[in-house]
Amino acid sequence: MSSSHPEANRMADPLFEPIQVGDLSLPHRVAMAPLTRSRAGQPGDVPTDMNVEYYRQRAGAAFIISEATQVSPQGKGYAFTPGIHSQAQIDGWRKVTAAVHEAGGKIVLQLWHVGRISRPELQPDGATPVAPSAIKPEGAQTYISNESGMVDVLEPRALATDEIPGIVEQFRRGAENALKAGFDGVEIHAANGYLLDQFIRSNSNTRTDAYGGSVENRLRLPLEVVKAVTDVWGTERTGIRVSPTGSFNGMHDDDPVTTFGLFAERLNETGIAFIEVVEDSFQGNHASGRPEPVIDAIRAGFTRTYIGNGAYTADEARERIAAGRCDLATFGRPMIANPDLPERFKRHAALNEWDSSSFYGGDEHGYIDYPFLAESD
Ligand code: PHB
Repeated sequence: MSSSHPEANRMADPLFEPIQVGDLSLPHRVAMAPLTRSRAGQPGDVPTDMNVEYYRQRAGAAFIISEATQVSPQGKGYAFTPGIHSQAQIDGWRKVTAAVHEAGGKIVLQLWHVGRISRPELQPDGATPVAPSAIKPEGAQTYISNESGMVDVLEPRALATDEIPGIVEQFRRGAENALKAGFDGVEIHAANGYLLDQFIRSNSNTRTDAYGGSVENRLRLPLEVVKAVTDVWGTERTGIRVSPTGSFNGMHDDDPVTTFGLFAERLNETGIAFIEVVEDSFQGNHASGRPEPVIDAIRAGFTRTYIGNGAYTADEARERIAAGRCDLATFGRPMIANPDLPERFKRHAALNEWDSSSFYGGDEHGYIDYPFLAESD
């Protein structure tokens, strides 16, 4: 293959231009999206040797964003997702980061609190899951056990104002534990209908205190979390993920251009290194295709690294990087099925197809057994 792609062409491939993201010097622009795979060790939601192998195989990504990882027992919303609140979890993640580093890669941890997308069965002492407001999300479900499978989430309990510092503290501790576990940075999960997104978007936050009402108020908790996390990590190793038009988990915002345009400005003032935007989602999107006006507003407000996400092909990523619409892209499902995805993009090689039946839960099958390219491909 390589003879048909002369060096001059390869040098010009926008996907393979190096880029600096905060403190991270990345060799190219094909990054791994955060992907829930529901294979953490039991009991305790601890990363296993199989998880180590999965991330090791994908170390050729520009950098890896880990699967969503609960910062606290309260932050958990699904069976078998990993945590970053116990010593055993820190030790398990340390093996993952060591393996990725040994293979020449970089990995940041995604800090997660699910808020209302949980169930008493998954909460400490069978508690009711918490949220900005007592609003049950339309159509949202979670996986509580192999026996019960997917079940509807219930009406959550609205957090009292004096409980908010405790939420910020959960993220701060998660950030400290991520540092202990040897990560290269962190991404704050403020997308896809989980707790921070529940505060941001208008249909899930009807609070009348300082954390609801105006857009500024809805952004207050996420920005307090950014402050706590950057106190631990500094700005150059901290990023955030948002999904302005995503409908997954019953989400909607009345005016995403205004909401996320202002959020972008506020985030820019914090100095964090990157924003990853879910522009499109197989789990549901109110926009048809990419929401260009929202992307414009975020690009205008946030001047540091913009990471595009959502059903990207290599060629669309090339075009959008070249056109200045994003700086790099994260790939999800193609990265599941192709551990060596960047190499395949570089060589314009064929891709393995993903098997959606093994996305969530199970064993090695559909997890660490997707084939790599042969030298001759
Ligand atoms: C999921 O488990 O389906 C899931 C988790 C985190 C996300 C999106 C989906 O951000």
